[in-house]
Amino acid sequence: MINNNDSNNLDKIVALCKRRGFIFQSSEIYGGLANTWDYGPYGIELKNNIKRAWWKSVVYERNDIYGMDAAILMHPKVWEASGHTASFVDMLVDCKSCKKRFRLDKLEDNTCPECKGKDFTEPRSFNLMFKTSIGPVENTQSIVYLRPETAQGMFVNFLNILDTVHPRLPFGLAQIGKAFRNEVTTGNFIFRTLEFEQMEIEYFVRPQEADKYYDYWVDQRFNWYIGLGIRKENLRRRQHQLGELAHYARACTDIEYNFPFGWSELEGIANRSDFDLRQHSQKSGKDLRYFDDINKERFFPYIIEPSGGIDRSALAFLTDAYDEERIKNDVRVVLRLHKDLAPIKVAVFPLLKNRSMLVELAKKIAQDLKRYFVTIYDDTAAIGKLYRRQDEIGTPYCITVDVQSLDDRKVTVRDRDTMRQERIDIDNLKEYLTEKL
Ligand code: GAP
Repeated sequence: MINNNDSNNLDKIVALCKRRGFIFQSSEIYGGLANTWDYGPYGIELKNNIKRAWWKSVVYERNDIYGMDAAILMHPKVWEASGHTASFVDMLVDCKSCKKRFRLDKLEDNTCPECKGKDFTEPRSFNLMFKTSIGPVENTQSIVYLRPETAQGMFVNFLNILDTVHPRLPFGLAQIGKAFRNEVTTGNFIFRTLEFEQMEIEYFVRPQEADKYYDYWVDQRFNWYIGLGIRKENLRRRQHQLGELAHYARACTDIEYNFPFGWSELEGIANRSDFDLRQHSQKSGKDLRYFDDINKERFFPYIIEPSGGIDRSALAFLTDAYDEERIKNDVRVVLRLHKDLAPIKVAVFPLLKNRSMLVELAKKIAQDLKRYFVTIYDDTAAIGKLYRRQDEIGTPYCITVDVQSLDDRKVTVRDRDTMRQERIDIDNLKEYLTEKL
């Protein structure tokens, strides 16, 4: 395994993502748009697999969490009630010597990181929400924001969920979707970008049970990453100090990953208290209290919120899976992704691409397997290169069809991690791979 704390490893991962079609710079042919990225054929599969694993674990495998998908554009009053209009700000200063702009809270010893100057402008607040407007005429009435978190879409639907699903506390809502932030400090590839995807749960509980469920969700979410292959030594919990809590949070624990640029937040689990439901009740005039029909009382539930980023998770899974293995005078780069996350599960090659019977048989095997696993057929290089390509994509199994296959109806199946090869009957491939995958 590579050493996570080597910052060169981020360059290696960025290079692999570009070389193998995971992630590209956005609008690259125009020089690129900074801090925005496009996911290619394997990147989108990885992202979809992360989302699927999350949704399965928090919606399908539970009885108390319901999925939803709210609009990105919301009534501007939502952001007043949530506190984002007033409080979702960074304090910025400009260095008077080099004219560069910085976040005040990121300056060390009040010194400019660029030119070491110490003379700055007065701090100015800068709201992180992207503004746009509805309709042809831009005025204060038409302003809307691109949501900076998916959470609010769930809070404002609280009543709809109570009225339609009739859930009993504790219960939760889960949502995956795009969020946008006009970040001042960006960088580190897909770690902090202007546009990203979040996977958020809003878990509604009785106030007196908030601490219990807060601890519960920190454990659940920590173990989710471990279950998908993140090494324990690269994951840790970090409790927020009072001064760093977001305006809505009573307590927050970050799950941090040991990225090549240091330990950084992967997901935050916050106790949001009854802040959101109270605020939206007050601003909308709608009673968002929960009615407990056993004790005959009405109250605002507390909310425990596990909030993770899909892009950040993708970076953590890629970093943790990236490996360089020395084989004689060569280095094999392999992504040891968890099988559930691997973009392609099976690749099928003919040993010789100019033997039409091999090509035909390999294509038929790939086509048959496509019904059950994400499978590709490839004959665009020599067999050694094809293996290396799939190792770098993280494909767990490669199947080679050779001349003998035409006689004995067996093919060679190669395991990504051990590189061990087995001869398997073509008719048993589906069962063999089902068991392995
Ligand atoms: N609703 C709570 C909330 O949004 P957050 O800590 O600001 O909390 C939650 O964001 C998660 O969203 C982070 O842990 C991170 O994974 C992801 N995230 C936040 N800002 C991001 C950005 N600019 N780029 C990529 N991911 C981001």
